[in-house]
Amino acid sequence: MSAETIEEGKDFIVIDNIRKVYKKDDTETVAIDQFDLTIKKGELISLIGPSGCGKTTILRMIAGLLEPTEGTITIAGKECKEPGADRGVVFQDFALFPWRSVRKNVEFGMEVAGVPKDERRERADEYIELVGLGDFKNSKIQELSGGMKQRVGIARALVNHPDVILMDEPFGALDAQTRNIMQNQLVQILEKTEQTIIFITHSVDEALFLSDRVVILSKRPSRIKEIVEIPWERPRDRAGPEFTALRKRILEDLEKENVMFHH
Ligand SMILES: Nc1ncnc2c1ncn2[C@@H]1O[C@H](COP(=O)(O)OP(=O)(O)O)[C@@H](O)[C@H]1O
Ligand SMILES: [Mg+2]
Repeated sequence: MSAETIEEGKDFIVIDNIRKVYKKDDTETVAIDQFDLTIKKGELISLIGPSGCGKTTILRMIAGLLEPTEGTITIAGKECKEPGADRGVVFQDFALFPWRSVRKNVEFGMEVAGVPKDERRERADEYIELVGLGDFKNSKIQELSGGMKQRVGIARALVNHPDVILMDEPFGALDAQTRNIMQNQLVQILEKTEQTIIFITHSVDEALFLSDRVVILSKRPSRIKEIVEIPWERPRDRAGPEFTALRKRILEDLEKENVMFHH
């Protein structure tokens, strides 16, 4: 990274020359190699790539749940060596407490941080409303549908005002219709919060609908094939000619590599 870019203060998250090797018995798997990426504040950036290419590995390293073999990841200059309140994670399988209420799940991080009860409640309720679950504050997680569970996951991440939210195929387990609803809702949330988000998906359509930039990854070990800037305002028209043409172009490029992608 050049001195000039640091001075501009635009590079908020800096992933610098990351390599990750998994060792199991006698085998080594190179999941990530020579991986560089910088992300701006307020940006929604998608990482898209074939299954097993190393997307979750990248996200877990940013989350501080996994250490890179080589290289560094920093947020606002601070290295991501362990998990912290500056990063919120939304998992594909929700990772909520099933026996707790919606409210109690959203309050969990604040409880751990020792936020007083009244403030906790007030902040939790604000974000539960924001994700459209106002009528379900006291419902238990196990009583909710998949889409509702993932809204709780998003509220739980947003409520702590993290610098960045890391989302690992958050809508991947949902049916197509619910998935579209969730994407629209995320676009609405973005208008209200200007949250920085790193979003992993293997749907080209989803990436184009949501992102400011789409980072297209190669097969393992993950390298960046291309970064596509998306110039369009949100909400976007998936059926529009520009959208359709860009989706087609990206899918065709990926198919040349024999990579199977969702449309
Ligand atoms: N704990 C682990 N031990 C050994 N290999 C792993 C481990 N986790 C992931 N891998 C391997 O690293 C590669 C990348 O995995 P992952 O980051 O989960 O990919 P993606 O999320 O893109 O599907 C895969 O080949 C996977 O089998
Ligand atoms: Mg994964």
